[in-house]
Amino acid sequence: MAYILGVDIGTSGTKTVLFDENGTALASATYEYPLYTPQNGYAEQDPEDWWRAVVGSISDVIAESGISSADIKGIGLSGQMHGLVMLDAECKVIRKSIIWCDQRTSKEVEEITSKVGHDRLVEITANPAITGFTAAKIMWVKNNEPHNYERCRHILLPKDYIRFMLTGEFATEVSDASGMQLLDIPKRQWSDEVLEKLGIDKSLLAKVYESPEITGTVTKAVAEMTGLAEGTPVVGGAGDNAAAAVGTGVVEDGTAFTTIGSSGVVFAHTSDISIDKKGRVHTFCCAVPGCWHVMGVTQSAGLSLKWFRDNLCWSEMETAINMGVDPYYLTDKAAMEVPIGANRLLYMPYLNGERTPHLDPNARGAFIGLSTMHKKKDMIRAVMEGVSYSLRDCVEVMREMRINVSDMMACGGGGTSPLWRQMLADLYGCPVKTTQNKEGPALGVALLAAVGTGIYNSVPEACRAVIKEDKIQNPITENSEKYEKVYELYRRLYPRMKQTFAELAEL
Ligand code: XUL
Repeated sequence: MAYILGVDIGTSGTKTVLFDENGTALASATYEYPLYTPQNGYAEQDPEDWWRAVVGSISDVIAESGISSADIKGIGLSGQMHGLVMLDAECKVIRKSIIWCDQRTSKEVEEITSKVGHDRLVEITANPAITGFTAAKIMWVKNNEPHNYERCRHILLPKDYIRFMLTGEFATEVSDASGMQLLDIPKRQWSDEVLEKLGIDKSLLAKVYESPEITGTVTKAVAEMTGLAEGTPVVGGAGDNAAAAVGTGVVEDGTAFTTIGSSGVVFAHTSDISIDKKGRVHTFCCAVPGCWHVMGVTQSAGLSLKWFRDNLCWSEMETAINMGVDPYYLTDKAAMEVPIGANRLLYMPYLNGERTPHLDPNARGAFIGLSTMHKKKDMIRAVMEGVSYSLRDCVEVMREMRINVSDMMACGGGGTSPLWRQMLADLYGCPVKTTQNKEGPALGVALLAAVGTGIYNSVPEACRAVIKEDKIQNPITENSEKYEKVYELYRRLYPRMKQTFAELAEL
């Protein structure tokens, strides 16, 4: 039996899972690390923390599984996207990594747009300039820490820094590189034009591979440190969303997934490149060679419910502890007692601004229609519905772009709620399914390693062999009709509130 390792370098921690070639998880280990917020809107992490977590979790799974590391045929890396890691001439980390959710770069976003031109930027990088993307972070360091920029010899994404530590190679792959805003997305290679206009030296960037390609092998020093065999191949891997797509079998036209984690993502596979000129959804290269994906992002999806729970559901949290159940089990039960439309209560989920479809960092959350008759359970239902309307907005943009999203998987913490999945099915008007294996990104990149090392011939073949569907929820016509009326009202809210949000931000 051959084994494959998936390492997912996330924002709250690194999860490493050892699978057999059939995708059965044999051992798993997670190591957490801190997120630093030196100023309001800043978000940084220490690449040394990621590396310690990777070494610890790999060593643990090898020890726990008891298998011979010579039988591990390959390693795949998945990771939080967009983060900036800078190394000096000695390959030492220059400063903490500025990560995906950092919002300090609004001036740099304007600078990038004026230097490249909005339309040209969308043509080449398939996205308008965005605060979270890596190019804006590089420009920020250039503008604000020139001493650090001068020392910089290598620019890497989070998982590619880990690759360097494992193999000594400077390499990246198309799906994660897409989130740097320096890649020519249609051509799947660095854009000389964007690099030149922004004054970024191409030699700072890593070599770009397709996701299943072998990019290097584990060094002797790392083998001694972790228990891995020297020479184990490390494939390109993928950014976390592209990795989750492989892990849920979303690798062919017509397939899509919705994840409700802190943020919410609607991700659709497409073998034809399709770019939204208004930049409401991201178009990135995906982990299947020669294909792309379109991705809509709701900034505060699960985060909306977590915010409501943490601030207003103390008694439910206490009851949940006493009952030994997840607090979300109780919020779900409460919301189920409320009819569709939450008794005429609407929620706008823009707690941290919004990406799709408004691209507005000033947008903020709101309850509309509160009355003395409303109870906490109405508000919980309104929050879940508001997030679902926002995810439907993502699907609407994709349908406008003629991308088929009729086969929908659900994943992430919110995807485990049957109520939330039913809302999505009713609002999307298509079945919403889950997969038996819940390892998502770690399984996705382990499968890329299986393809890169010849266990499977292609990514779709690996997914067909390994990914098994679990629960299916079909849309209920009567529900869909009721939701549709509320959704139409929800859609008209943001344009009416836009100016108020802008004025609020100026107060
Ligand atoms: C994608 C995005 C997040 C990060 C962190 O554009 O910002 O999904 O990859 O998970």
